[in-house]
Amino acid sequence: MSVRRLAEDNVQPATFAFNDENAAWAEATIRKYPEGRQQSAVIPLLMRAQEQDGWVTKAALEYVAQKLGMAYIRVLEVATFYTQFQLKPVGTRAHVQVCGTTPCMLRGAEELIKVCKSKIHANPLELNEDGTLSWEEVECQGACVNAPMVMIFKDAYEDLTPTQLEHIIDRFHAGKPHEITPGPQIDRQFSAPVGGPVTLNEDVKPAQKDPEPKSAAEEAASVPPANAGRAVDTAEEADPSIKTPLTDKEGAKRRVKTAQEQPLSATASTPKPDKKSAGSAVEGAPPEPGSVSGDAKPKRTRKKTTPEGDAS
Ligand code: FES
Repeated sequence: MSVRRLAEDNVQPATFAFNDENAAWAEATIRKYPEGRQQSAVIPLLMRAQEQDGWVTKAALEYVAQKLGMAYIRVLEVATFYTQFQLKPVGTRAHVQVCGTTPCMLRGAEELIKVCKSKIHANPLELNEDGTLSWEEVECQGACVNAPMVMIFKDAYEDLTPTQLEHIIDRFHAGKPHEITPGPQIDRQFSAPVGGPVTLNEDVKPAQKDPEPKSAAEEAASVPPANAGRAVDTAEEADPSIKTPLTDKEGAKRRVKTAQEQPLSATASTPKPDKKSAGSAVEGAPPEPGSVSGDAKPKRTRKKTTPEGDAS
């Protein structure tokens, strides 16, 4: 990462001001932000200043600070942080920013830098002979999938080989950048895999046409009677716990039926009386009222005691 400092004083212009068109644009841009948040316009205003003069001058920083009511140091912090802002004069036709971060470095960024050194200048941020080209190494530009890549002003040129970069630089030098299409320089769709997308390739079904609106009479005829055609799901029958809620009538019928079946099922599940506790009860016979059966505990009777403590 290069150290980012303002240009020497001898190249700094004394003043800066937006031209009429940019001044109107700046006013409209500042108004987009909520009251008290106008300083958020610092990046667009600095970018506009750079587009007007070709680089961000110290006078432009002061002008933007004054316009937004910001401390100068705050504007300087922004301008020196982002490598998109050029702090000294760069090539008038192209400033080539070569990404040198790991993915691009592993995919050949060093070879691209060699091209820049041979075709532009041996040192970064130095102008070529006619002042039209310059270059520098920057950090990740967010196009790692298409490494290696370069940025030239606002456009990215990706999936580069040294030969392709030579061709791109030549086109810019000749003043014919429109002959180069930004983006991947190989047969790749954006950031899709080389050779074409491998997922989400299913044909998209055409959207169904909306049916013609029905007349009121047709609408009335098409309304089914209440509960007509209520499908009985076999899964419902198999598992009552997932049944859909019954109507009041259906629920009442079902409760009556269940109540009628209850004594039979209750008898079937009544445990056999315990011989010991049942005493003389006949095995298999239903327990008599008042008799003790199953796990029921026998009733306790209180013993009467004499004043001497003998049981009577
Ligand atoms: S590493 Fe080069 S674009 Fe991210």
